Amino acid sequence: MEFFEVVKQRKSVREYSDKKVDKAILKKIIDAGRVAATARNEQPWEFIISSDKEILSKICSMCPNGPFIKDAPHLIAVFSKDTKYYIEDCSAATQNMLLAIEALGLGGCWVAGDKKDYIEEVRKIFNVPEGYKLVSMISVGYPKKPQGPKNKKDLKEVLHWEKW
Ligand SMILES: Cc1cc2nc3c(=O)[nH]c(=O)nc-3n(C[C@H](O)[C@H](O)[C@H](O)COP(=O)(O)O)c2cc1C
Repeated sequence: MEFFEVVKQRKSVREYSDKKVDKAILKKIIDAGRVAATARNEQPWEFIISSDKEILSKICSMCPNGPFIKDAPHLIAVFSKDTKYYIEDCSAATQNMLLAIEALGLGGCWVAGDKKDYIEEVRKIFNVPEGYKLVSMISVGYPKKPQGPKNKKDLKEVLHWEKW
């Protein structure tokens, strides 16, 4: 898919088929996150992929904003060192991965991490060292049904040339 088509077609997909995603494809997704823009090139991120149904169900039960996690074949969790720009860095990585997911014909949804009360529990579930922060999770799989992108504000509503 052409770049701008990927960007415009990306959407949050919350329903998946049972088909697992090949490890090589999951690695491609993480690789897109790995090369994201990052302040001072600090690359504070660490990525965990889980395909363990029990773990996904456990996380789902703590996460009212991710009721679909238990039915996803995979979950990517993005953890970070506590750097000055960790939220921005890991958000850039998360968006890169969502675009990769779209380009690969998969579906994914960003599930909030930062500021949520379950972040420490999720850290412990994945054996992540103390001090690392959960910034986001991405459920990922093959979409259950075709889905188009959501309506977005028109360009002329948000674009200002030179001044507001
Ligand atoms: C920082 C951030 C946190 C989000 N957290 C959740 C979440 O916890 N649960 C969820 O279902 N969607 C979550 N989303 C996805 C948004 O709901 C979604 O991007 C928005 O509704 C626009 O839809 P679209 O992604 O299809 O364009 C999150 C998105 C962002 C950027």
